[in-house]
Amino acid sequence: MTTLHIDSSISGENSVSRTLTRSIADGIGGETVYRDLAESPLPHLTFGEFADTSVLEEFLGADIVVIGAPMYNFTLPSQLKAWIDRIVVAGRTFRYTENGPEGLAKGKRVIIALARGGIYSAGSPAAALEHLESYLRGVFNFIGIEPEFVAADGLNISPRHKEAAIAAALGETVRLAA
Ligand SMILES: Cc1cc2nc3c(=O)[nH]c(=O)nc-3n(C[C@H](O)[C@H](O)[C@H](O)COP(=O)(O)O)c2cc1C
Repeated sequence: MTTLHIDSSISGENSVSRTLTRSIADGIGGETVYRDLAESPLPHLTFGEFADTSVLEEFLGADIVVIGAPMYNFTLPSQLKAWIDRIVVAGRTFRYTENGPEGLAKGKRVIIALARGGIYSAGSPAAALEHLESYLRGVFNFIGIEPEFVAADGLNISPRHKEAAIAAALGETVRLAA
């Protein structure tokens, strides 16, 4: 079993998503490949640049993928989007058929640790601005994967709220890694 562990927060040791992905990856154990998209950003795709498939192969080679996804401006960090752009590839992770698109990356477990400053749950005033979890669920569904989520929310509301949200999410990471 190989785990691919990906972080994308720019907040280093203070990052909540990094704390959560570390807990999940440590809990799973075994062989782990680590990729830090903030420390070593992938360039944007450029015209005609599809030759380097190393990021795609790394993804395809993993049985479990653990992803740290902080919310930046209501969606995912552009560093993480640059990685998504390299793994959503026609003919490799999805294909178009007469019955519509078909995901080809089935059988992989994807666990995503979300960290959000505010609250975006259904019915909350900011719910319509939630483009992080909804986007990641949609894009992984498109390639044939139902991702699992753990979330620490409302991190910027108050220090007390932050502490409680992290503690609850860390408890959830133990369950996910078991
Ligand atoms: C550039 C930037 C943009 C952010 N935009 C949002 C936002 O749109 N909504 C939100 O709820 N929190 C936002 N935040 C707060 C982060 O989601 C929050 O601090 C979270 O803890 C980040 O994850 P991390 O701790 O892993 O870095 C933003 C933070 C940064 C640095």
